[in-house]
Amino acid sequence: MKTLRTISIMAALAVMLLCGSQAQAQDKSAMDVIMSRTSVRSFTGDPVSKENLETILKAGMAAPTAMNGQPWRFVVVTDKDKMAKVFGAGPRSKMFTTAGAVIVVCGQTTVMRRPFGQPDAPEKEVPNMFWYEDCSAAAENILLAVHALGLGAVWTAGYPAEERIAPIAQALGIPDNIKILCVIPIGVPAENPKPKDKWKPENIHWEQW
Ligand SMILES: Cc1cc2nc3c(=O)[nH]c(=O)nc-3n(C[C@H](O)[C@H](O)[C@H](O)COP(=O)(O)O)c2cc1C
Repeated sequence: MKTLRTISIMAALAVMLLCGSQAQAQDKSAMDVIMSRTSVRSFTGDPVSKENLETILKAGMAAPTAMNGQPWRFVVVTDKDKMAKVFGAGPRSKMFTTAGAVIVVCGQTTVMRRPFGQPDAPEKEVPNMFWYEDCSAAAENILLAVHALGLGAVWTAGYPAEERIAPIAQALGIPDNIKILCVIPIGVPAENPKPKDKWKPENIHWEQW
């Protein structure tokens, strides 16, 4: 009986050690996370667990959003061959071939809405002029969550650079009314860049410009 218990404890410890190789949330305050985040562009090639990806996406979806519209949509790519094929060409290739996952942050650019003040009128498709802001807030939350988990990531530009986003949208089957805001490779950092000091009091105008 005692031997059985010892074996179970040892097995549990082994599982904990194995799971521990994937980054877990670190005990950092929100301000620590915000102030120490930096873009990471080089990764070890290790995968990012589904659990961590879901935590990261949950943070993305917790962002503020105009009229609670939640226009964000995410395409998550973890397949290495696909990552290399879809994102790996050109000068940015290294970060995409060594990342453990890529999150493509997309936004629905239209919304079904009744004209204001006409509650009985039929809904019609109108442009969602806030998709870009909403999805940017989601992207920043993603970057912060990645960093809080001890992983690294970088925002790479998408919209409005059509020449960048069109091939990715086509390769991933993204519909026409969904735009790619940015592409975020995520992985176990293989570099440890120092956060840039961006504090510039001259950029602030107290009370009046
Ligand atoms: C809208 C936007 C587009 C960006 N595009 C790229 C990009 O295409 N490639 C890249 O390596 N970094 C890109 N970045 C990351 C910036 O270069 C980076 O945030 C900036 O240099 C500040 O460094 P930090 O993130 O380490 O504080 C982008 C960031 C933003 C917000």
